[in-house]
Formats: sequence, structure tokens, C-alpha cells
Amino acid sequence: MESCRQTTLALFQAVDYTTFCQQAHPDFSPIGWHLGHIGYTEALWLLEHSAGLPSQFPQYRRLFAADGLPKADRVRLPDLAEIQSYLQTVRAAVFDYLDVAPIDEQERLWRWLLQHESQHGETIALVLEMIKRQQNSIPILQSAPSPQPTLSPAPQTLWPPANMVCIPAGSFECGNDSIEALDNERPVHRVQVETFWLDRTPVTCEQYQQFMAVGGYNNPRWWSTEGWEWLQTAQVTEPLYWSDAPDHAQHPVCGVSWYEADAYARFVGKRLPTEAEWEKAASWNPIALQRQIYPWGNLDANDDYCNCNHSVGRTTPVDAYPTGMSPFGCYDMMGNVWEWTASWFDRYAGFEAYPYRGYSEAYFDGQHRVLKGGSWATQASSMRCAFRNWYHPHVREIFAGFRCASDSSVQHPVD
Ligand code: AVJ
Ligand code: FE
Repeated sequence: MESCRQTTLALFQAVDYTTFCQQAHPDFSPIGWHLGHIGYTEALWLLEHSAGLPSQFPQYRRLFAADGLPKADRVRLPDLAEIQSYLQTVRAAVFDYLDVAPIDEQERLWRWLLQHESQHGETIALVLEMIKRQQNSIPILQSAPSPQPTLSPAPQTLWPPANMVCIPAGSFECGNDSIEALDNERPVHRVQVETFWLDRTPVTCEQYQQFMAVGGYNNPRWWSTEGWEWLQTAQVTEPLYWSDAPDHAQHPVCGVSWYEADAYARFVGKRLPTEAEWEKAASWNPIALQRQIYPWGNLDANDDYCNCNHSVGRTTPVDAYPTGMSPFGCYDMMGNVWEWTASWFDRYAGFEAYPYRGYSEAYFDGQHRVLKGGSWATQASSMRCAFRNWYHPHVREIFAGFRCASDSSVQHPVD
């Protein structure tokens, strides 16, 4: 909890009060609100609900509860010092309570709160990224030096295709039953998946550039009906976090809506993987016939295996972490960018809402697509193959890219 808090607070280091209160986008609250909401949620669940203490800061309920003020009214906030002292007061009381709390019964809740904070930390990072873009109005990711790829180039053979792996038909164990599993990951259940092929890496800027260069954004042929409709309104011509700097060519595309991901996949004669396909490719060990928590095994996520925890602070080349490869040979399935899947966010059979209905269940509405894997701004506590993120398909402010799948290895030449 302390290291998660350090990571959260580090995001506010060079932040002025205007930035603190700024609503960069109508779908996202100011970063100062997220900070207060982190403290409010911790106090609500641990001090009020668990310890049975009265609220010490009743004035913050309306301001920082998720069902309090509309997003547009969250711009008048106490300053950073005041909210930081609020968080500190709550945390001191929480750690006092920890001395006497029946932690065996409450471990799931404490772990949920940790992941709650870390997810809001990611939202803070993307709001900051949007503000940076708006201030500079130049591509933000341009001149950052990138770690050198450590993977030797794959041999160019026609069969099997060097950049895709074959995942043979068979069932695997999907989901997560362990103590940190969120309600939407439970229960573990077997899923049959037919043979398919999956890109070894997320789609890179160099690859996506070809789609842009031949007018992909102007050609309805590649777009779904809803995607084309969205495009007419959104009027976008490149990913939100686009950079065509040469040192960015091997970075994953970042800042695309689901519609853009879907259109690119059609353009190369492929499709987006389903969530089950993605999770099998990331987590299934076909030798041990067991699911792994992470593509590399069961050792906790850290910077050696993937680009996470805000440690690099931006994307990295898609093959920069060969130690994080999955048993099937896929790179970068954890960290760097979230990956859109073809699946709608929905309950698994046996779902039970926790800790409240509004956490996941309210989003089982056939309007949200699942994203997998985590980004450079995801903390280790929220990073595992079973973790499920969800957003409306038009959202492009999150650190999301994608990789493509195919029923066969046939790759259609781009005409
Ligand atoms: C799962 C990331 C979409 O931030 O809206 C935070 C997580 N839920 N507080 C969000 C969440 C309640 C959620 N996402
Ligand atoms: Fe929240």
C-alpha cells in the first residue's frame, strides 16, 4: 500500500493548481478529483464499513464519491496540500486499524482497494498525458530515447509466419480464483478455443503507418458500420498518441479506439482476438497444461518482465522485454499498451458482484469492450493475464493498442 501510494503521489510532482483541477476531456475527471476519490474510497471501505468508525470528513462525500457530483462539477477542488493531508489522515487511521483488523476475513477487500488506487493512478497518468498534448500541441512521445530492442530479428520464412504464432485447438482455464481476483475475473472456468493465429507483438507504429498512408481513415471498406459512423463524427486521422518519429517505429500504436483497431485488422486481412483467445495465448502453458498468472510464469510482475508501474513513463519497442514472452511465444502481452479484444465485457457464469454492484456489474451492458494486459502506467497489483479492463469502443484516451488474430496463417497482401 505504501509503495502504491508513493507511485500515486509521484504523479503530482510538477503539477500546478490549474492542472490539478483541469478537466482535460469530458469523459475524465480532473487529476485532483481522482486523488481525493482514492482517499475517500479507502476511508469508506476500511474506516466506515469495516472498522465502523464515523466519517471524519463528511464534507468530502459529495465531492469525492463516484456517485456524487457530475464530472463537469469536479473542477473546484481543495489544493494538493489539503488533499494530501486528507489522504495521510485516512492512511494513519487505516494503519491503526490494521493492528486489530480481522485481516484473514478482509484480505480480499484490502487487495481490492490497492487495485482501486492503482487503476485511478493510471487514469491520472492519461489525463496528464492529454494535458501535455493540449499544452504543447505537438506529438508528446516524439523525442524520448527508447531502450534498444534485445531480440535478434526473426528469420523471414513463409511458413510458419515469423510474426504470428499458432495456438492449437483445445481448452484452457480462463479467469482467476485467487484472493486478489476482482469480481469480474471469477470463477476460473474451462473454455474451448479453436485453432487460431496471433500476432507475436502488438501492432507497431510502422505497421499502422501503412494503413494511414494508403488512406485507411478515408476508406469505408475497412470500417464496421458503427466504426465508420463514429469516424464521421470524431474526424480523426491518426491515433491520439501518434508519433512518426523514426525511433518510434517499433513502438506499439497507442491511443486508438476499438473502431480503429478493428479497421486496421480488416485492412491486413485479420481480426481482433476474442478475450478467451488472448488470455489463452498469454497464460496457458501447453507443456505443463496449466494456467500461469503471467506470460512468463508466476513470479510477480516487475520492470524486468514488462513495461509497467510508470517506471519508463511511456511506451517501449514491442520486443524490448523478451523475458516476458508467453509460452506460445508472444511478446509484450503485459504492460506497454492495453490491447483491445473483440469481446464485450460480460459476466462469467457464477459471477458475484464485489464489493458493490456498480464496480463491474453495471458495465455488463453490451456497450463496453474488454482490454487485456495493462500498460506502462499500470501497477503490478493490477497486472495479470486474467485481469479485465473495459471501455466504450470510442474511447481513445487510454493507453491502448492491439494485436491481430487470424483463423489461418494466410496473410493477405495489402492492395
Ligand atoms: C475498470 C478502469 C474502467 O476507472 O472507471 C475505478 C475502474 N472503478 N473506480 C474506472 C474503477 C471504480 C474503472 N475501469
Ligand atoms: Fe473509483
